[in-house]
Amino acid sequence: MVQFNTKQTPRKYWFLIGLFAMTVVFSVVNHLSTYSDSTFKVTPTLESIKVRRSFPGGVVKDQITLALTFNATYADIPAPTLEWEEMAAAPVGRLDGGSAQIGNLLYVFAGYENINHVHSHVDVFNFSDNTWGDRFDMPKEMANSHLGIANDGRYVYIISGQYGAQCRPSTSRSFVLDTKTRKWSDFISLPFPRYAPPTQIWRGRLHVMGGGKENRFEIALEHWSIGVKDGKAIEKEWRSELPIPRGGPHRACVVANDRLFVFGGQEGDFMPKPGSPIFKCSRKIEAYIAEIVVAVHSDVYMLEGDGSKWKQLGDMPKPNSHFETSWVIVNSSIIIIGGSTRLHPLTKKMNLIGEVFRFRLDTLEWSVIGRMPFRVKTTVAGFWNGWLYFSSGQRDTGPLDPKPKKIVGTTFRTQLRL
Ligand SMILES: *[C@@H]1O[C@H](CO)[C@@H](O)[C@H](O)[C@H]1NC(C)=O
Ligand SMILES: *[C@@H]1O[C@H](CO)[C@@H](O)[C@H](O)[C@H]1NC(C)=O
Ligand SMILES: *[C@@H]1O[C@H](CO)[C@@H](O)[C@H](O)[C@H]1NC(C)=O
Repeated sequence: MVQFNTKQTPRKYWFLIGLFAMTVVFSVVNHLSTYSDSTFKVTPTLESIKVRRSFPGGVVKDQITLALTFNATYADIPAPTLEWEEMAAAPVGRLDGGSAQIGNLLYVFAGYENINHVHSHVDVFNFSDNTWGDRFDMPKEMANSHLGIANDGRYVYIISGQYGAQCRPSTSRSFVLDTKTRKWSDFISLPFPRYAPPTQIWRGRLHVMGGGKENRFEIALEHWSIGVKDGKAIEKEWRSELPIPRGGPHRACVVANDRLFVFGGQEGDFMPKPGSPIFKCSRKIEAYIAEIVVAVHSDVYMLEGDGSKWKQLGDMPKPNSHFETSWVIVNSSIIIIGGSTRLHPLTKKMNLIGEVFRFRLDTLEWSVIGRMPFRVKTTVAGFWNGWLYFSSGQRDTGPLDPKPKKIVGTTFRTQLRL
């Protein structure tokens, strides 16, 4: 055993020793900080998020969160503070659903309630009185998550997607909703089943490209289009188009200023356990995917003019996936909220995104314009009367932990000024 000298040091010496120690620490810190830009990148970012709760019984409160000291791929990007107001929650929690805003109504389709239960109905949010009101069924044969979705201001085209819970295969079945009459009709099936394919209406044609193949995991590059008018195909079959340079699911596809854009996404996804009768999503494969295969990326591709060439634009501010309908177009900018970035190499967990991104259609440049009250993926977004809304999705574990946890129906809005 080590013996200590138990002789008491007089109080006044302790004071002098303390003073000396403080001086040494101060000068060392001072010295190090002059090199901090290049050598010591351990500064945690302090972010202030104001959450204003306006629901009955709610209070106004500020929340200070300490961002994790992840490297730039996983860390929260410094962003201006946005003040969010919590609205009525959606009637159900929803992951991997989809949405279409038509005027003052946000139609929210399908999605997982949990891994074993998927929705087969539509919930409608009314921006005029901020209520969730109507609910109606989807066709029984329609996919329940990972939809390709586009609308022309009245008709919502729902193309393929995953049919059923867990990691069941995708379908090629497609449908159209007339939002005026709330009647569904069949739409011509895709040539092959697809899982979360980027989908948009561009120059009178419905375009569907990329996504995952039937097993969810394999990457598709094919691109098809078909002429559409008033909720109907005006051609007999899908036409093959220029394949997208990088395939895969979970990206946003937006048409603005007569151009078609495809943002971010990933290559690969969870697969079913081989031989599982319920197509159980495999955890083992999750680890495999984390290490080797799933590539979440920040690529941006654009079609313009006659659509004969894909042009690659500047990257998104960070690799992003799972934001298929988490965007709005406002004043010549595309606003994208949330998503998920790469799996962390140590924890092998997915990291969610809580930034609000802006893509300017005039300069084709990116910026980060704010932070959400929490990180969330596959949230659905809308814009009405100056307010940016988001609802539902799967949110993070907490301010210090960006891995996915609860599937939620929570709805928030913030006043947007670009
Ligand atoms: C963050 O770390 C990952 C894994 O080590 C690495 O692949 C990535 O390039 C890093 N990103 C930055 C911006 O340093
Ligand atoms: C939306 O709310 C407004 C204002 O309360 C109401 O006039 C309108 O009928 C509602 N729309 C629908 C489709 O419920
Ligand atoms: C969009 O532009 C209009 C007209 O310039 C302006 O009044 C409005 O505040 C802008 N909206 C946002 C969200 O910045």
